Amino acid sequence: MVKDELVEEIRERAEIVDLLGEYTSLKRSGRTWRGPCPLHGGEGPNFSVDPGRGLFKCFVCGEGGDIFAFFMKHLGLDFPSAVRHVASRIGIEVPEDREVREDPWGPLREVVAFAEEWFREQLHDESEGRAARRYLVERGFEEDDLDRFRLGWAPDQWRALRDAAKARGIDDGELLETGLLATSERAEEPYDRFRGRLIFPIHDLRDRPIAFGGRILASEAEGIPKYINSPESPIFHKGRTLYGLGWARHEIRREDASLLCEGYMDVLALHRSGFLTAIAPLGTSLTHEQAELLGRYGRKVFLLYDSDAAGLKATFRAGDALLAAGVHPMVVSLPPGEDPDSLLQRAGPEVLSELLDDAVDVLERKLQILERQGYLESIEGRRRAVDGLLSTLRSVQDPALRDLYLGRAAERTGVRRDTLVSEVAREQARESGPRAWRHSGEPEPGTEGRDPDPMQTFGSEADVAAERGLLLLVLRDPTLVDQTVERGLEASHFREPGFRSIYVALQAAGQDGDTESLVSSLGGAEADLLERLMEDSTEIMHPGDVYDEALRRLLNREKLDRLRQIDRELELADEDQARRLLVEKSEIAKLLRGAGVSLSFVRNLASPGMPPAR
Ligand code: UTP
Ligand code: MN
Repeated sequence: MVKDELVEEIRERAEIVDLLGEYTSLKRSGRTWRGPCPLHGGEGPNFSVDPGRGLFKCFVCGEGGDIFAFFMKHLGLDFPSAVRHVASRIGIEVPEDREVREDPWGPLREVVAFAEEWFREQLHDESEGRAARRYLVERGFEEDDLDRFRLGWAPDQWRALRDAAKARGIDDGELLETGLLATSERAEEPYDRFRGRLIFPIHDLRDRPIAFGGRILASEAEGIPKYINSPESPIFHKGRTLYGLGWARHEIRREDASLLCEGYMDVLALHRSGFLTAIAPLGTSLTHEQAELLGRYGRKVFLLYDSDAAGLKATFRAGDALLAAGVHPMVVSLPPGEDPDSLLQRAGPEVLSELLDDAVDVLERKLQILERQGYLESIEGRRRAVDGLLSTLRSVQDPALRDLYLGRAAERTGVRRDTLVSEVAREQARESGPRAWRHSGEPEPGTEGRDPDPMQTFGSEADVAAERGLLLLVLRDPTLVDQTVERGLEASHFREPGFRSIYVALQAAGQDGDTESLVSSLGGAEADLLERLMEDSTEIMHPGDVYDEALRRLLNREKLDRLRQIDRELELADEDQARRLLVEKSEIAKLLRGAGVSLSFVRNLASPGMPPAR
């Protein structure tokens, strides 16, 4: 039995809202929290949790009691087991009086915990960690931050971690299963996956390390991805994990809102500056599961993505996932070329706070863009604007918000509300798979004769085609992987997050990697995407040429982006500005031609050389 004082201590320290919040989505309602009852599986907000008194109560099924009673009912435990369960959830040790059930993944967790500690030691090692520590200082980290975020350093050696583990009696099996070691046909023995990289441990909600992200120190490296992550493992599911949620969740609950950004450095910079609700997905677009997870803690999410075309696309896509999870997305417009990290470094927290104050609802942001692009001026434009709004209108789940959205969309586009409602329903019926998947030149099924969705063409369709085409070719001929890396294509050249992840996985697999393990190394949505790529049997007429062109295009995309930007600026420019812009345009075009980039690539790809896939 567990001693009474200990039971009281556990009751005292358990945060009932937090623990129960993992089984149902609780929203604050005055002094208590409300949500659907997980015990009888109801849908209305009849389950009430009172953190002050440490009690719950369902007004429909009548169940109620303290935190232990909840787990007794929900998991069918007896009282001592419920106490132990709660204790383990909040990290209190209960002395054993009998055999407890083993965590089947205990050994894997131990290995990951060992690696976390070992990476930390390397970072703190006077000479081994020096360059990494200097890099972190340059990026604004202070001494305490290294421990706070448990940062580490992986030495630039092939077997340093493996040897250290062996000396501790840890053998390859668990290191391989957690992805700390990798294998390749070319190497006789497994080798350290993370080499010469800063290490960002990824934790679960119980603050246990489950995986790692690793960044090279160089700002721009040749041929290797800037970031790599641990592959999926029994204890790490990329699509269900959010970086930083363990640190941020209490604060997110308090504020009922979170800050969603693109990556590790942004999360850490925000936390360092006192924005304690920052979290990020792990190098992929926001999954439905991540959106739901986030929604359990806070009803509002501020999206802090890059403000370029790719960032906007990612923003709207994440917005849809959030709306579908009943969460309200707000879009923060960062100055061009900035991410939260760079903005905080350059301008400081007050400027960011102001931008947060100026955040606009995701539908409103779309309307702003459509208005700026002149879509709301003509009847024809409004018709097309509706297409741009549909994915948002289709995703929104919250009934009150849906109602507001329909009203607002009707008002701004002049399209009758009833018409919008039936458009939304029509879209829902034929919705399938990620949109990026479709070749953008190809009308979506059922949309023949209509103009392309302006929100979808906001990013560059030619670039999406190039990313897709290149991956298709590399998948068909894996010997191209090394060549592609050698020619300088990095994961960051892919804007489509799904394609980016696939490219990272391809690199990790190398030219001998089999496709099955490739699929299993990716999260749900990406694995799906990859499978569809592999199923694509389109014949590519001149694969060599298409490959070269796609590669050149991706390597030169900044210039291409600038060209598009110039075109937009030209629309508003006065005569003087226009002259300057045209000069710049022709200079860039010259550079691009010099690099062998064809400016009519869109048409090339849509030609029989590469018909669109479904
Ligand atoms: P970014 O390229 O925007 O990097 O990637 P960043 O977060 O600004 O990082 P710094 O400031 O250059 O250090 C955003 C996120 O995309 C994933 C990572 O999760 C990264 O945090 N990513 C990026 C990869 O997984 N692989 C890559 O090669 C690049
Ligand atoms: Mn950055």
